Amino acid sequence: MIKNIYLDYNSHTPCSLRVVQAMNDLWQQPGNPHSINHYFGWSKQQLIDDALKSFADIYDCVEEDLLFTSGATEANNLAICSGIALAKLVNPNADTILTSHLEHKSVLNPLEIAAAKHNLRLIYVGITAEGIIDLEDLQNKLNNNNVLWVSCCMTNGVIGTNQSIHQLVQLCQSFGAVVHVDASQAAYLDISCHDLDIDYLTLSAHKIYGPSGVGLLFSKHLNQAGFLPIISGGSQQNGLRAGTLPVPLVIGFAEAAKELSENKDMEAKRIDDLRNYLLTELRKFFSITVHGSLKNRHPGNLHLAIDGVNSIQLLNIVQPHLAFSLGSACDGMNLEYSPLMQAINVPRDEAEHSFRICIGRMTTKKEVEEAANIITVAAKNLISQLR
Ligand SMILES: Cc1ncc(COP(=O)(O)O)c(C=O)c1O
Repeated sequence: MIKNIYLDYNSHTPCSLRVVQAMNDLWQQPGNPHSINHYFGWSKQQLIDDALKSFADIYDCVEEDLLFTSGATEANNLAICSGIALAKLVNPNADTILTSHLEHKSVLNPLEIAAAKHNLRLIYVGITAEGIIDLEDLQNKLNNNNVLWVSCCMTNGVIGTNQSIHQLVQLCQSFGAVVHVDASQAAYLDISCHDLDIDYLTLSAHKIYGPSGVGLLFSKHLNQAGFLPIISGGSQQNGLRAGTLPVPLVIGFAEAAKELSENKDMEAKRIDDLRNYLLTELRKFFSITVHGSLKNRHPGNLHLAIDGVNSIQLLNIVQPHLAFSLGSACDGMNLEYSPLMQAINVPRDEAEHSFRICIGRMTTKKEVEEAANIITVAAKNLISQLR
């Protein structure tokens, strides 16, 4: 038996060795990057400036349009809270926000708050059975409403489907709407803020083998008068987000982004092959439904239901040997019939019995073989108990 196997990379990716090495030296070095009068402060600020430069290269934007946050949750909250207030100043007659059930709670909850605060309608756009935003429905809703703001993820965190983000951005902008894209789960897609001509974009380090506790907000509106911080205090980051920057985390994040950009396509192919191998192995024994397009998704992600198998029991039985998840980590044990499953027409019973596996960089072929074996034995047991 090999050691316990982790197949929950959509929830969290551990730091890569390169990231740990990049951060290692920094923990014991004194100096606050915001101390502007001595060498120790300057050297830390230099590291931050270098990190910003490499993010700007990778995500094709200018450093001035980037802001560090504590993660994607804060970046989403800042984009929505401050971005909608600014958009309302520019376009006071618009009265509608569009989003969909593909979004993470750190998008949906702030959208509800902003809608109530600014007296806006919050409308959910349809999703196809493939797990992709229905662009026809989006077009209708843009036609029939005066839309101020649209929030859409680039890759969904539960069923892993990639969205037609270029088309979506162009369509929304042709109606004058401001577009916010949560790209936290889009590790394997090319992201060019310039080509996308996006308004707001969110990233998180711990989804790309960087440390937890740091994220990024890109926006071309950061330096516009009227874009106000949600965390105020000192004048760090031009007063747009107060608080001392965590230098080791920022450096680890930048290293993670560099490492991923160097190996992205090869890594995606390897993970995709392992994911398909696992699915093929399981299909030898069970009737399996995969939710969302198999082709157009995060390469490691499988959201599936095994006919006749209760996923809660399955997950319990395989502890501590195999880790996967019953939904998004942020929903914990919230096993209600999720609006996303309803939107893509997955019946309640099947939705309640589905689970999410995500293969990642550190996963080996041997681990996937072992995982297939563990699931097969446990699922056969559960099925036989029903007979
Ligand atoms: C799509 C998406 N957005 C935002 C988040 C929140 O990210 P963070 O943990 O960096 O706050 C997650 C985390 O799972 C996510 O999947």
